[in-house]
Amino acid sequence: MEGHFRTVNYSRTTITELMIPAYANFGGKIHGGIILSLMDKVAYACASKHAGNYCVTASIDTVDFLKPIEVGEMVSLLASINHVGKSSMVVGIKVVAEDFKKGTIKHTNTSFFTMVAKDDEGKLTEVPGLILETREDVRRFLEAIKRKEIKKTYKTELDNAKTNLEIEDEFYKLEKERCQVDWNLKAE
Ligand SMILES: CC(C)(COP(=O)(O)OP(=O)(O)OC[C@H]1O[C@@H](n2cnc3c(N)ncnc32)[C@H](O)[C@@H]1OP(=O)(O)O)[C@@H](O)C(=O)NCCC(=O)NCCS
Repeated sequence: MEGHFRTVNYSRTTITELMIPAYANFGGKIHGGIILSLMDKVAYACASKHAGNYCVTASIDTVDFLKPIEVGEMVSLLASINHVGKSSMVVGIKVVAEDFKKGTIKHTNTSFFTMVAKDDEGKLTEVPGLILETREDVRRFLEAIKRKEIKKTYKTELDNAKTNLEIEDEFYKLEKERCQVDWNLKAE
């Protein structure tokens, strides 16, 4: 192995925070934005520890809120490096919410943040390689490669679909949708 390498454990990070009433929305549940902000924080902490440098968030791969989080629950965000490229790192984040009174723990979401390391001048900088010590580390690394491949195909397909979109050809699809077209197509 050439170059500098670090284990997954070296940068494994957990943030735990109590959900206070100020974090709630009008329905009494925790705002999604509060959780997103905590996820960005833990991704930054984990990535910058692995990189030994300042990092920026390049992308977030899917955030599905599986279950609502209540005021009074203790939310933990468990983050670890799943994959490294040259200057980028994929941080996998699992969010769980614990209710001490009921003694329950629920998994509320899992997301993948791509963080990119920069040096003091703001230039991209190479990050250490990753030492995979367990079967789980290997599985996560391989899954991250798959996710990147699928994202690339998806992006190409979406770009093609947008380029080839003909409004007149697809207009019939709106009949089944809950929308009203309030402009004169022929006049355009
Ligand atoms: C993300 C960013 C650093 C990429 O810079 P760039 O000049 O386009 O650099 P490159 O194309 O060479 O990509 C650098 C690395 O980032 C990765 N990357 C860039 N855009 C990405 C994206 N949208 N998703 C995932 N990875 C991405 C590349 O794959 C590459 O990885 P590698 O070095 O491991 O091979 C740049 O776009 C940026 O600074 N964006 C703003 C980030 C920011 O401010 N975030 C906070 C938002 S509030």
